[in-house]
Amino acid sequence: MSLHRLVTVLLVAAVTLLVALLALADAVAAGPGDVERGAVERGAYLVRAMACNDCHTPWKVGPRGPEPDMSRMLSGHPSDLVMPAAPALPPGPWLVVSSGTNTAWAGPWGVSFTANLTPDPETGLGKWTEQNFADAMRSGRHMGRGRRILPPMPYPAVGGLTDADLHAVWAYLRSIPAVRNRVPDPVAPAAR
Ligand code: HEC
Repeated sequence: MSLHRLVTVLLVAAVTLLVALLALADAVAAGPGDVERGAVERGAYLVRAMACNDCHTPWKVGPRGPEPDMSRMLSGHPSDLVMPAAPALPPGPWLVVSSGTNTAWAGPWGVSFTANLTPDPETGLGKWTEQNFADAMRSGRHMGRGRRILPPMPYPAVGGLTDADLHAVWAYLRSIPAVRNRVPDPVAPAAR
C-alpha cells in the first residue's frame, strides 16, 4: 500500500470514528430526562388544547372579561367559595346551572365540583399513581375503581387519548405547582 493510500484509509477511519462518537454523545445527551421533558411539553399542549383550565381553574372577571385565574391553575373548585343550595332544575330545555367560577355544576346528577389536579398530596392528585389517573379516565370511575365520575367531566375524551398522550398529560400535571385547596364532595340529586 502506498503511503498516500495508507494516509487516506487512516483519515477515513478517523472521520468515521469521530462521527460515531458524536452520535453516541448525542444519544447520551438525549437521555431519559429529555424524553420526560418532551412528555411534559406535550402534556402542557394537550391540557391547553383540551380546555382542562376551562373547568379546573376557577374563573374570575379580569380586564378582558371572564377568564381562568391562572394564579390558581388547575386547583379545582375553591374551598372558600361555599355554594348555597343549587336552584331547582330549570324548566327544560334548560338543564344545567354552573357557578361563575365554572367549577360547580348542578344538573340532574346533583352537584359536581371540579377536582384539584395539582400535585398537592392532601387535596390534589399528589397521592394518585399514574395508573389511578389512567384507569379513572379510561373507566369513568373515581380513581379507576370508585363511584362514577359525574358530568360535565369529559373523561371519554381524555380516556380516548393514546397511552403516550395520557402519560404526557399525567407528566405535565405532575410538573405544575401544588395548590392546597380542598374541593367539596359532590351532592346527590335528592339532597340538592
Ligand atoms: C367541562 C368541564 C371539564 C373539563 C373541560 C375537564 N374537566 Fe375534569 N372534571 C370536571 C368535573 C365537574 C369533575 C368532578 C367530577 C366528579 O366529582 O365526579 C372533574 C374531575 C376530574 C378528575 C378526577 C376524576 C376522579 O377520578 O375523581 C380528573 C383527574 C380530571 N377531571 C382531569 C381532567 C383533565 C386532565 C382535563 C383536560 C384534559 C379535564 N379534567 C377537563 C369537569 C371538567
